[in-house]
Amino acid sequence: MTRVRLRRHRIVNRRHAAVAVLALTASLLVGGLAASNATSAPGGPPVEAKVNALLAKMTLEEKLEQMQLLSDGQITEADAQKGVGGVFSLTDPQKINDLQHVAVDKSRLHIPILFAFDTIHGFRTVFPIPLGEASSFDPGVATADATFGARETAATGIKQVYSPMVDVSHDPRWGRISEAAGEDPHGDQGANYSAADKVVASVKHLAAYGQPEGGREYNTTDMSTQLLYNLYLPPYKAAVDAGVGTAMCSFNAINGVPGCANQETETDILRGQWGFDGFVESDYTAVAELRACPPVNPNSGPCGHGVAADGPQAAQLAISAGTDMEMVSTNYVDFGRQLLAQGKITLREINDAVRNILRVKFRAGLFEHPYVDVSQAGAAQLRPDAVAAARAAASKSMVLLKNDNSTLPLDSTKNTAVIGPLGDDQHDMLGPWWGTGRPEDAVSLYTGIKTQSTGTTTFTKACDLPNTEPPQYNPADDCPAGAGFDQAVAAAKSADQVVLALGETREMSGEATSRSNIDLPGDEQQLIDRIAALGKPFTVVLFNGRPLTLTDVAAKSPAILEAWFPGVQAGNAVADVLFGKVNPGGKLPVSFPVNIGQVPIYYNHEPTGRPCDITSKYNSRYRDLNTCDPLYSFGYGLSYTTFSFSNLQLSSATMSQRGSVKARVNVTNTGSRAGDEVVQLYIHDPVASISQPVRRLRDFDRVTLQPGQTKTVSFTLDRNDVGFYDNMGKFVVEPGQIDVYVGDSSQATMTKSFTVSR
Ligand code: NOJ
Repeated sequence: MTRVRLRRHRIVNRRHAAVAVLALTASLLVGGLAASNATSAPGGPPVEAKVNALLAKMTLEEKLEQMQLLSDGQITEADAQKGVGGVFSLTDPQKINDLQHVAVDKSRLHIPILFAFDTIHGFRTVFPIPLGEASSFDPGVATADATFGARETAATGIKQVYSPMVDVSHDPRWGRISEAAGEDPHGDQGANYSAADKVVASVKHLAAYGQPEGGREYNTTDMSTQLLYNLYLPPYKAAVDAGVGTAMCSFNAINGVPGCANQETETDILRGQWGFDGFVESDYTAVAELRACPPVNPNSGPCGHGVAADGPQAAQLAISAGTDMEMVSTNYVDFGRQLLAQGKITLREINDAVRNILRVKFRAGLFEHPYVDVSQAGAAQLRPDAVAAARAAASKSMVLLKNDNSTLPLDSTKNTAVIGPLGDDQHDMLGPWWGTGRPEDAVSLYTGIKTQSTGTTTFTKACDLPNTEPPQYNPADDCPAGAGFDQAVAAAKSADQVVLALGETREMSGEATSRSNIDLPGDEQQLIDRIAALGKPFTVVLFNGRPLTLTDVAAKSPAILEAWFPGVQAGNAVADVLFGKVNPGGKLPVSFPVNIGQVPIYYNHEPTGRPCDITSKYNSRYRDLNTCDPLYSFGYGLSYTTFSFSNLQLSSATMSQRGSVKARVNVTNTGSRAGDEVVQLYIHDPVASISQPVRRLRDFDRVTLQPGQTKTVSFTLDRNDVGFYDNMGKFVVEPGQIDVYVGDSSQATMTKSFTVSR
């Protein structure tokens, strides 16, 4: 049991790594999950024998069809009858069953279709966005999300989810930073993803999709080997070690090589180094995008990378690199036969790809249970246990950024004015990738506060935040100051306490939502200024999918609660925190910059010969900023109580190459309310063959403490924690000093050192 717990903890630790830009090393999680998956087909001969027997009967056309993945808008009965491999985004269980019947009853070899969906943070019961869940620093939150998400997804007849998304990002301009958090597939897959309430997870997007230049979506990435290995690959590896069944290659190129034509990441590393034996699917039309665009009409279909002259060459590159399934574009089925005849791809490459796909289908139990019980699909959605878990997850994910003069918690007997464009909103609460969630499932903040308050609660919208998308989207339409601001001021004047609900629409984060300006949208800041001028305490509740530049917000607001996009239970969960039913304990899994010019700013950056120093000139600083730090650092978050740390001790002053060192620290609740503290352990390697990051989070533990209570928290460090990958991609553990820092954020100052011996 202890062992299982330890494993879980370490994996989810790496899950935070994904968002938090950590460089955590290989997971120890092998064996149980992977082994059970390898032979998990219910009954009959081992999976590999079944795969080979079926493969031997397949024609080339049938093999190429298995390598095709079509969208809900593309799929026809004819495709199902030909033996298409996968279909995604179809969510009607009856339609899924009907198509599955065509595939199983009418295709020559009766191979079932693998249905897939982007269950990112919930299927119907929408949980907080992954960036929010990462803020909980609680492994149980992501596990609950994945478990209920898998149950609802599987009950619909869908057997694969396109998550976890584990793309580490340093760039808040990038809209998909909201989606990153989970490299722990355990909740989705369980020990055996053929179970009726489990699905096969797809880790994505291989690799380093979170670092597009300029934070601009789909843009290219230039990345050193050591950075790739130390910061970006570990979450994918942790997912593979945990037995993830499938993976998705990315749109972007690393060092000029697009993700779906990248033999190094897809084959050499994923399969060769890590032993992955599931299948890799391309992202949406990513195979076609390998082609050069025609000079005259560059918009004539997916194209652009320019590593292939045409469709056949794109298919050749992707198949040879290790992309087993092509999503949406159809170059494999269109050109596979021709490429084979020309000797540009081999039958072995095709067979390997099909084997990978069939292996997953057998493991998923699809051949034994291809259909879903349509009559039960509805009843499996939004069940009370899932909704309760979503509420708990949301309140655990919130981060208290500021709370001057104990503005929070609010008094539930007083009159409250809820003000702002997101104050009575349901649509945006679900965040990007809302699955099959519906606005009417969501509890607005106004409703949540009204339900818990015995005083009068009023709502004043003040302005609109339209949900328009580019090219129609015009930032000037976001919350324009007007008469609504006067109404808001009047409402604030007549209330005892004021809650401002501000932030982004859900359309502002997620895929294709990079922003060049990460201030509060439109005139939201002016609304704060108007309310602040009243001199009355107020709280800003933020709903957003990325770090925002909050310098002006913080200058004017006594209290700020970062609620992210909390999901279906948004209003209830925020009210739980505002009224103090739940004491906030979340911490930032990403730095909040002072201004956009500071981006990228992240806690685990490498050192320089001239570290930032605002008291002098010739160093790595901004001339126009009087700080070296972000506004809010990684790991930061307040509570309604206070904590102190004491007595940091290491079990030994030295660690052998194969040994370990235990760090212990006491944490005490020094306030008068029960609360959670996230104890964080960072290391720094001061002298190494390549410069090491100034801090690296190696472990954490979220503990609950009663007033006056002290707990001793301990962490074990070993070679996986102190080692790093060099510029050849080799993991090295160098002898020498390691500094340990323990505390409540990445700014922790309590320190001790030990030495790694030869
Ligand atoms: C494109 C996105 O990049 C990917 O994350 C998603 O899974 C696919 N579309 C399918 O919806």
